[in-house]
Amino acid sequence: MKNKKLYLLEESQQQRKELLDKTITFGENFLDNLTHLKAYNKPLSATVSTNKKLLINDNTANIEEILLLLEEEVLKPGLNTASGANMGYIPGGGIFSSALGDYIAAISNKFAGVFYASPGAVNMENELIRWTANLAGYTEGYGGNLTSGGSYANLIALLTAKRAKNINIRNVEKTVVYCSHQSHHSIQKAINIIGLEDCIIRYINIDSELRIDVKELEVQITEDLKIGLNPFLVIANAGSTDAGMIDPLLDIGKIAAKHSIWFHIDAAYGGFYLMTNRGRKKLNGISAADSIIMDPHKSLFLPYGSGIVLIKDIKHLIAANQYTANYMQDAGEDGNSYSPSILSPELSKHFRGLRMWLPLKLYGQSAFKEYLDEKLDLAKYFYSEVKKIGFEVGPKPDLSVVIFRYVPRNGNADHFNRFIVKEIQNNGKVFISSTIINGNFTLRAAIVSFRTHKTEVDFLLNMLSEIISSEGVTL
Ligand SMILES: Cc1ncc(COP(=O)(O)O)c(C=O)c1O
Repeated sequence: MKNKKLYLLEESQQQRKELLDKTITFGENFLDNLTHLKAYNKPLSATVSTNKKLLINDNTANIEEILLLLEEEVLKPGLNTASGANMGYIPGGGIFSSALGDYIAAISNKFAGVFYASPGAVNMENELIRWTANLAGYTEGYGGNLTSGGSYANLIALLTAKRAKNINIRNVEKTVVYCSHQSHHSIQKAINIIGLEDCIIRYINIDSELRIDVKELEVQITEDLKIGLNPFLVIANAGSTDAGMIDPLLDIGKIAAKHSIWFHIDAAYGGFYLMTNRGRKKLNGISAADSIIMDPHKSLFLPYGSGIVLIKDIKHLIAANQYTANYMQDAGEDGNSYSPSILSPELSKHFRGLRMWLPLKLYGQSAFKEYLDEKLDLAKYFYSEVKKIGFEVGPKPDLSVVIFRYVPRNGNADHFNRFIVKEIQNNGKVFISSTIINGNFTLRAAIVSFRTHKTEVDFLLNMLSEIISSEGVTL
């Protein structure tokens, strides 16, 4: 007797069409409505709980019911990261054409880890690595990997550095890592994961522009050498998370080279600004790095799930990641030397190249450059306008994150700025996040999403203006 359930997962053409039509209509409605949707819907409960409506058991639902459930329980609550009014953290937006790449990647289920299994997917990944590496000024001998995001990319870079510099249990306690408190916390996570939690981390002070003080860096390295320590790794930001600032890459590169220290640049947010003339000037010196990370799900506007790690000398990347196994013996026969599986901890991996390659092929790199130039202009505009309203501003933005705070005549400034961010988030029409800069509660506007244009920036400015005037603050 035919077991009906065994045919359930292989839909007929008619069934596929129905599922696709309904899903596409749902997606189209979401996109068409996006400008009317809130940027933030505060969850009703502040605690993580099990949503009974999402339970999996033997009960089934049809596609309409499922899409409705998704809309109410998943798409609506929380941050609307597709919205152009989202200027919190580091947004990207999530371009539509990436979804087409993800669709084909999922239905073809190409195995992107090994050349022999999918030479096309691997060649595509290698081409994306070449394109990104060339942007950063690496021209030959480099290697890289498409990762799930910046945290994983930082992890691979630091693992590679550790192997290249022979850091191990015998010398870890004398090993020194240099960074600043502006480094992203995924760096600390990576240090832990790769077993360097017992190394010495020197947090070098930042200057008034929130950039690593290179003089202090050099003095610290010299002192560490004098007392027999091993300066191993220096980490610079090329677009810090807090304020989008770029550390003095040229100077740090020279210091690192002089002392044979591995130089890592976290360009997760700032990297793709290399496509713009202004960004390229600001990022001068990036090519001196031994490793770089860049996140296409930030300044290349891809949906979440896309990071890139680049290593100047591929042999270090291979040394840190290549392992063999009997069951993989067939995979080695077709010259798979540059397969992603030997360049990262992942074996089976999402065919994530397609979501990046398809949009670049469809629109060309210059389209992305135009959008990034617009973000630089908008950040400049916001910086000067928010000052006019009466806010204090941080350093002139290197890229497209602006930090600012309001200092009321009376009362506690930290409390007042916390109030502003809460007011904005409770309203939800636009979203910004906050941070602490030099001990002060500070607001930040990250103008990165491809959907953020002047309308959204003006909306935020109006809202800020209204909040401070409704508080009866005399300017
Ligand atoms: C500078 C920087 N590095 C690393 C990361 C971590 O990237 P991801 O969130 O993709 O893991 C971020 C995230 O915002 C970042 O801003």
